Amino acid sequence: MATTGRAVIVTGSSRGIGAATAILAANRGYAVCVNFVANESAAMSVVQTIEKAGGKAIARRADVSDERQVVELFDSAERSLGPLYGLVNNAAILERQCGFSDLSPARLERIFRTNVIGAFLCAKEAIVRMSASGGGAIVNVSSCAAKTGSPHEYVDYAMSKGALDTMTVGLAKEVAADGIRVNAVRPGFIETDMHAAGGEPDRVERLRDSIPLKRGGTPEEAASAIVWLLSADSSYCTGSFIDVAGGVG
Ligand code: NAI
Repeated sequence: MATTGRAVIVTGSSRGIGAATAILAANRGYAVCVNFVANESAAMSVVQTIEKAGGKAIARRADVSDERQVVELFDSAERSLGPLYGLVNNAAILERQCGFSDLSPARLERIFRTNVIGAFLCAKEAIVRMSASGGGAIVNVSSCAAKTGSPHEYVDYAMSKGALDTMTVGLAKEVAADGIRVNAVRPGFIETDMHAAGGEPDRVERLRDSIPLKRGGTPEEAASAIVWLLSADSSYCTGSFIDVAGGVG
């Protein structure tokens, strides 16, 4: 195991792509803060998986859309793990599939509050701390929906990921001189519980034939790109995007 010991926060990492990212990052030697909003036992089981493999992790509850909770999350992570090196902005939500005319302003506000304002609050907190400690890396977990637009499913969610992509580009340029790299991964059709939240647990299976690689992806395949963008192996990448969507996009 590599032993960089650098502190990384992965938001929304009690399950899915976030959990796979936390486990892989710890396996590569990062000290990981597993952030969760509701399911503490799932977060603790990610921590236990990491510890059993000889890694270091803590679990911390925080709603990323709440500024006070975000500040407490970062304070607590740094107290336990040391100066922050990495942030993975992974937490996000979507709601039930519907057509554009059935979307409501209230729904857009909920989606944007977590997916855009949440990522913004975490990135803002991260860059202050990373500039003070000599640099770091932020990876935003976007979606191939930012390119496809998710018609008839959730255009609101796709819009939020488009905003995240734009934040990635702007912030990357703004903080490059501080030694902070900002990149994004755009997953698509990854087998996680998120599709059930959209009302169709078997969505990936339904769409399989439209995916050039003819299958859904695993959380580990998305995590692999995320952890690469965190690492020094991607040291000349900033404002970059990796699509992990089986050829869609
Ligand atoms: P998931 O639903 O399993 O994971 C999302 C996590 O974020 C959950 O653990 C949830 O509790 C957490 N979360 C939600 N709101 C939060 C808040 N306010 N504060 C803290 N945590 C919060 O879904 P999945 O698939 O693992 O998604 C991870 C990321 O990948 C998301 O950003 C998602 O948009 C993105 N993505 C996933 C795709 C897929 O096919 N599964 C495709 C494209 C993007």
